[in-house]
Amino acid sequence: MSFRIMGTGSYLPPLSVTNDDIAKYVDTNDEWISTRTGIRSRHVATDETASEMGAKAALEALKDAGIQADELDLILCATVSGEYIVPSMACLIQRAIGAHCPAFDMSSACSAFLVMMETAAAYLATGRYRRILLVGTEQMSRVLDWTDRSTCILFGDGAGAVVLEPGENYLGSHMVFMGGEEVLNLPTNVGNSPYWTLERPRDTVNMNGGETYKFATRTVPQEILALLEQTGTQQSEIDWVVCHQANQRIIDAVARRLKGIAPEKFLSNIADHGNTTAATIPLLLDECNKKGMFKRGDLMVVAAFGGGLSCIASLIRW
Ligand code: ACO
Repeated sequence: MSFRIMGTGSYLPPLSVTNDDIAKYVDTNDEWISTRTGIRSRHVATDETASEMGAKAALEALKDAGIQADELDLILCATVSGEYIVPSMACLIQRAIGAHCPAFDMSSACSAFLVMMETAAAYLATGRYRRILLVGTEQMSRVLDWTDRSTCILFGDGAGAVVLEPGENYLGSHMVFMGGEEVLNLPTNVGNSPYWTLERPRDTVNMNGGETYKFATRTVPQEILALLEQTGTQQSEIDWVVCHQANQRIIDAVARRLKGIAPEKFLSNIADHGNTTAATIPLLLDECNKKGMFKRGDLMVVAAFGGGLSCIASLIRW
């Protein structure tokens, strides 16, 4: 037994920051950012935290699923930019929405939403839980160096959520994990220990853009092709591809490698949202769902990559 998606929700903070806005304080311009990344604007939180945005997305997903918070059996949450490490974002969301079930966070950077889906599928298969809420929420603006033009232009804030119940619609996954911090990292604070002898790391996102780009354009098509082979699925059967929204050029490069899937099936909202890390996939799923784009029975590939390094592709029937 796997899962069925009962409902989706999302939330974006109201302030939209354009490339021209960012060009006022770092040496960049709209032309560079939009041609290199496809990003034109991103939402940025001014007075809301990751858990607060996550709770708003969660309430919308519950409403869409037609269930109450106290009917949930488990809440999983993913973030790299939560306002606390302790307590977990999942626990704060649990309280904010009025749930009473177990709640904990899962860490896998931009791949985390698919890691949570994999985990939820395993829990549902045991029969231990029947209704699971997954939330990806990010306040990336608090973990960026806003003087670093190579990273601050890429990310945005927002949250997305889905509610799952037992079903037959999670058809498989294929993944690769390659441990290492060299290409992409976000250090935690080391505090002020008088015994610490090494350098204090910069506690903002550090990224080798070129290496990340190469990793993504190599592994995303590779994992999708392996997934299709594993599940006996033809590219022509795929109705939608929901890729992690990190760079439109990465999505376009993946589409070029998968010639059997028409380019218009590769969904995108990066132009207005930037990269919302663990939130990109549930945000995109919710926006397309609310536009009525998905029909019951549609077959979709959902693929993510990120720090770890990691890359996961999953096959889902809507
Ligand atoms: N505006 C203007 N110029 C810039 C900017 C900017 N915002 N940023 C960098 N540049 C300059 C660089 O300084 C460099 O100048 P130089 O040649 O004089 O040294 C030049 O532009 C080219 O820089 P590159 O880094 O080579 O540019 P590239 O074409 O590789 O694009 C980018 C950079 C957009 C970051 C690209 O590498 C990329 O998208 N990589 C993948 C990023 C990604 O997927 N991140 C996801 C992280 S995982 C997760 O989601 C957490």
